Amino acid sequence: MPADIGIPASPFAAYPQLVITELDSRVAEWRADTEGCANVVHFNNAGSSLPPRQVLDAVIDHLRLEARIGGYEAAGQAASSLAEVPASIAALINADRSEIALVENATRAWDMAFYSIPFVPGDRIITGVAEYASNYLAFLQLRAQRGVEIVVCPDDSTGQIDVDALERLCDRSTRLIAITHVPTNGGLVNPAVEIGRIARAHEILFLLDACQSVGQLPIDVEAIGCDFLSATGRKFLRGPRGTGFLYANRTTTAGLHPPFIDLHAATWTGRDEYHLATDATRFENWESFVAGRLGLGVAAEYALAIGLDVIEERILQLSSCLRSELAAVPGITVRDKGVRQSGIVTFSHDRVAPAAIRDALRLRSINTSVSDRASTRLDFDGRGIQDVVRASVHYFNTEDEVATLIAAIREIVGAP
Ligand SMILES: Cc1ncc(COP(=O)(O)O)c(C=O)c1O
Repeated sequence: MPADIGIPASPFAAYPQLVITELDSRVAEWRADTEGCANVVHFNNAGSSLPPRQVLDAVIDHLRLEARIGGYEAAGQAASSLAEVPASIAALINADRSEIALVENATRAWDMAFYSIPFVPGDRIITGVAEYASNYLAFLQLRAQRGVEIVVCPDDSTGQIDVDALERLCDRSTRLIAITHVPTNGGLVNPAVEIGRIARAHEILFLLDACQSVGQLPIDVEAIGCDFLSATGRKFLRGPRGTGFLYANRTTTAGLHPPFIDLHAATWTGRDEYHLATDATRFENWESFVAGRLGLGVAAEYALAIGLDVIEERILQLSSCLRSELAAVPGITVRDKGVRQSGIVTFSHDRVAPAAIRDALRLRSINTSVSDRASTRLDFDGRGIQDVVRASVHYFNTEDEVATLIAAIREIVGAP
């Protein structure tokens, strides 16, 4: 993990020539694996990344097999590969395969964890300013239904969760700390390890939304000490859409019952009884996008083969370069905060609206997205921001693509 996340003058200034050459050939390899690189300049990896061909092949091959021999029969034929998917995901976050539930997306993973907690009136949930909308909506629902209290931990002066304030907020009625690791609307990485230390010290459940961090930086659930972690397939992990997973610590979450179950999560053992699966599969459901699951496993293996340290370092080079280039464009304000930063780069212009910038970029085959206040209302309201352009880089992007993006933005906003 890079110790210094400052902005270098040039993305590879710190690298000797030999390393540049090696890196160039690896980037060329990653791009050759990525069909979309020939069509678009893709800076929407926080939305949905471009999959490598290995992922695409796994999905399409399985769909073809289903069409040829039947869906159940195809799943039977792929049984050994399917059985390895949880192991690949577990390796990605240093978990045990029995702690992984494969589900449809990050929201479903998060919900299965959240709604398994038997909150009672007066329980407190501590969350962060930049918590994702769907999570906050669930807090509001439980506040209305069960009388829980929502406590928002402030950010510190750098913009990340204020861990000293968090420590002070923890009390005997705090039932859950639910934090987003990398917020959807800005480039910071919240201090998950410090938050986990506080949660453990106070014996409070810790649910980490790692939707934007899995696939872009190393994650170790043991070091973090979270009880649950939710993630999606399609973003920085470069897996198929409609896939996600939940990590549920086998010891600390063992007593938690999923909010709903089916004949996969539990076995109907007698007229009036059932046995719940004892591993994390109790959070899954029977019917699934089998081809997608296979693709998700391949995506995890692909990321592991590159190395999450390498991925993070490369992303930081490109995102730092992009931030400094953006800051030099008249009228542009880079909106990212935090001590440790990620591949999500957000900015706005003093005259041209974010949606207009995104749409004009799209016409030039450059993909970005817009984060608006509906996804992180507390944070944007606190900063007086309506929306921002989000340009999210991945390791297969290039410094030429950064230059292309900057030139296009200058043209769109009429900057010299
Ligand atoms: C921080 C964060 N959490 C959760 C989600 C929801 O993920 P999904 O759409 O896979 O349910 C998103 C999606 O953008 C996100 O950015």
